[in-house]
Amino acid sequence: MMISEKMASALTEQIAAEFGSYYVYLSMAFRLEELSLPILAKWFYIQAEEESSHAMKMSKYLVDQGAPVKLQPLGEPKYDYASAVDICKEALEHEKMITRRINDLVYLAREERDLATENLLQWFVAEQVEEVASTTELLELVKMADTPSSMIQLEERIFRMVQMREAADSEA
Ligand SMILES: [Fe+2]
Ligand SMILES: [Fe+2]
Repeated sequence: MMISEKMASALTEQIAAEFGSYYVYLSMAFRLEELSLPILAKWFYIQAEEESSHAMKMSKYLVDQGAPVKLQPLGEPKYDYASAVDICKEALEHEKMITRRINDLVYLAREERDLATENLLQWFVAEQVEEVASTTELLELVKMADTPSSMIQLEERIFRMVQMREAADSEA
């Protein structure tokens, strides 16, 4: 194993947090389907997929470092969200919590003088800036749509944002 046990176990916990995010966003998507907001739900399906790719990126890094990848159990995600605003608020809080976790991992990598892991984590630091920004934007949009007709307009706008994300993903 080419990284410390402490670093490897901290990354293992973060892998569980990323798969946990996958689960949280999937649950939000299914609740949005129930609230008759399929386009907003689509945003969360894409978001969920992205979280699973984050977990895989970290898992593959551990494999490359010769460390074991022991997956942790996932908790039951919340489902009974009151509204789209409620969901977007919690998604933003969730991203802020993940950002704090990533930052703590960077500080640990520095303590461990582990440049390879710090390099991996810097990708996540940049990713979190984007995640917090896009979730903030989504929350602001959803807050503005407080009538059924403005909600339909919102769905149209989010549909275009979803298309842009899909185009960006197919380029990457
Ligand atoms: Fe993530
Ligand atoms: Fe995220």
